[in-house]
This record gives sequence, C-alpha cells and structure tokens, in this order.
Amino acid sequence: MILTAMLFYPGGEHLTSWRLPGGRPADYLSVGYYEDFARTAERAGFAAVFYADELYVWDRFPSGVEHVANLRPEPFGLLGALTRCTERIGLVATVSTTYNEPFHTARQVGSLDFLSSGRAGWNLVTSASDEEARNFGLDRNLDHAARYRRGAEFVEVVHGLWDSWDDGAVAPDVASGRYADPAGMHVLDHEGEFFRVRGPLNLPRPPQGRPVLFQAGSSEDGRRLAGRHAEAVFVPGSAPLPGAQRLYEDYKSRAVAAGRARSDLLVLPALSPVLGATTAQARERVDEIEALTPDRLSLDWLSHHLGVDLSDRPLDEEFRFDFAGGSNQVQTVYEGIRKLVDRDRFTLRELYRVMLRRRFLPGTPEEVAD
Ligand SMILES: Cc1cc2nc3c(=O)[nH]c(=O)nc-3n(C[C@H](O)[C@H](O)[C@H](O)COP(=O)(O)O)c2cc1C
Repeated sequence: MILTAMLFYPGGEHLTSWRLPGGRPADYLSVGYYEDFARTAERAGFAAVFYADELYVWDRFPSGVEHVANLRPEPFGLLGALTRCTERIGLVATVSTTYNEPFHTARQVGSLDFLSSGRAGWNLVTSASDEEARNFGLDRNLDHAARYRRGAEFVEVVHGLWDSWDDGAVAPDVASGRYADPAGMHVLDHEGEFFRVRGPLNLPRPPQGRPVLFQAGSSEDGRRLAGRHAEAVFVPGSAPLPGAQRLYEDYKSRAVAAGRARSDLLVLPALSPVLGATTAQARERVDEIEALTPDRLSLDWLSHHLGVDLSDRPLDEEFRFDFAGGSNQVQTVYEGIRKLVDRDRFTLRELYRVMLRRRFLPGTPEEVAD
C-alpha cells in the first residue's frame, strides 16, 4: 500500500480545518510547520508528501476570503527547504500545465530531484477556475478539453527536456578542460499545438531520469492523460466500493492500452480520516468541523462548483438544478453533485452537507486502517 500525505489547508483537508486544534494557521509561512508535517509523515512510513496548490485566492465570494485559509507558499521553494530535514520521503509539487511553461517546470522539478537526491515528484493539474486564468493574461480559463491537450503536450516536452543530456555527457574534467561532450547533448526542437521549445535543458538528466508524475483529474480527458503518462493518480476516495473498483480497473486498462504495464500506474484514493478514541468520538469531530463552517461558506462552495450563484435560493426547500449546461471547472465534483440530485431529493442545506462530509472517513485508528 502506498500512502501519500496531502497538504493543502492547514490542519486538515477541509475549508475550515485551520480552526481545529493543531491547525496552526499563524504558522503557514514558517518552515517549521512544514518540517513537522514532513518529518511526521516520513517517520510514519509515508511514501511522499504531496503539496497541493492553486494559483489564485478564492475571492469569488466574500465568504471565501473571510473564512478560508487561502494563502500558502509556492511549492518549489518550500519543498527545496524540506530536502534538508528529510531523508527518504518523496516530495511532490503541484504544477499547473495551463499556467506554466514546460521549460520552467522541467528545470524546477529536475532541480528538486537533484537537491533531494532523487525524491522529486510533480502533480499535474490543469487548473479549473477563471480566477486563475485572470492572473495569466486571460479572461476565462481554457476549455476543459484544451486544458488536457495542453497538459499532455506539456508532459511530452518536459520528458523531452529531461533527455537533453545523455548520462555521462556532463563530466567536468579539470585536467583537459572538457566540461561536457557536445555529442551527448540533444536539442529538442519541439513544435506542437501549444508549445515551441528548442532546448536543451540547462540541467543534466535528473537522478530519477523522470521524476514521478502524479495526476488527479478523473474526467474522460483526465483519465486518458493519466493512462498514458502518470505513475500515480489521485482519485476521489468516497465512492462506494463497486464504483471504486470500476474506476481502478479503468485506469489500469488505460495504462495497458497505452503500452504500459498495469503496475506502472498506481491508483491512490483520496481519504480524509477523522480519528477518535471511539467511533462516536470520531463522528462528533466531524460534527465539530461542520459546526466550525459557516453555512454561507458551504453554500458558496456549492455555488462555485455548480458555476451559479445560489445565494438567493431557499436553503430548506427541495433543490432543483438544470445540469444540461455542464461545467468548465472540476467535472468530477460537478458530476458527483449531479448523481446525488438525480438519485434523491435534497434541500440545498442537505446537499452541501453531504458533499462536504462525504470525503471524511471517521473512526478509530483501527477502523480507518481496516
Ligand atoms: C486528491 C486530489 C488532489 C488535488 N489537488 C489539486 C491541486 O493541488 N491543485 C489543483 O488545481 N487541483 C487539484 N485537484 C483537482 C484535479 O487536479 C482536477 O482538476 C480535478 O480532479 C478535476 O479534474 P477533472 O476535470 O478531470 O474531473 C486535486 C484532486 C484530487 C482528487
């Protein structure tokens, strides 16, 4: 079993977990907070620390600014610092392939691989919101399909750049004055739909050759990209077992269809355990987290994912919604809401409660491990 420790919100994986004991929200810019997290995960046998990231402040609704711990340091500076206090654990940075250039990313991930002696990974995300687009010269995000086409081309360029230098081509010899062998250097000369990159990369091939690639989108396009390129994929962990097994099989067969071995792609369900000394205590903690989350914030979170401001809708009447318009944001969440509403009747209040609670796995440590 491969376990990776995800770090996004301080104190746990919830909009308001920064308010829980141990959340330490005032420490979000201090290296000590992250050192404690990484060392604890390493001691516990986790394979990697996965540092999640987005490229904007969620200010679409005032509640997002007022109540959510939206601010965080940039991944590569942070993970570079963590190379010094850890020895074995993988360090995984999140990279938006929509709002980065492959040359920069090849260099950043490759450098982290050198600095950590072969422990670097990257989590490919395609960025889901218009707010991110507006920080990079666009009014709205690229279409979902274009984001994934760009993501796939991005990976190919990064891999190509990591192969700029043959192993052994960079071997500085003081006596002869020969630093590198020109015959061992390759110019990429990539030209595609989104990128024109000459290369070579100004970094030898990273210690791992290709640092580990994670991916997390489970739409059709996301799965195709993962099947072809990813070595591990994060999937929603709250699905009932038969659905989870189908999803697992789907990823494995896509890897095989892309000419890879089943074992080349790991499937990592995302779980948010909430622990208690007893089951009842763990459940009470979930209630506690919910009680710390203002209703307006939960409602705005749902509005965000449906792409429509729901604040004028009654909270306690049956919720009806036209899903025909689809979503250009996170399709997995949108489809999750659609499935719930298709199957059962919900008021808005019930719907955001179910959506925000479904990712929790409350229990004693033994129950969660089982
Ligand atoms: C465990 C997990 C972690 C994720 N981490 C990030 C992240 O750090 N940054 C980000 O922009 N999106 C993140 N996502 C969102 C995915 O990258 C992706 O955008 C989302 O699942 C929607 O993909 P889809 O449109 O293919 O369904 C994460 C998703 C999951 C399940």
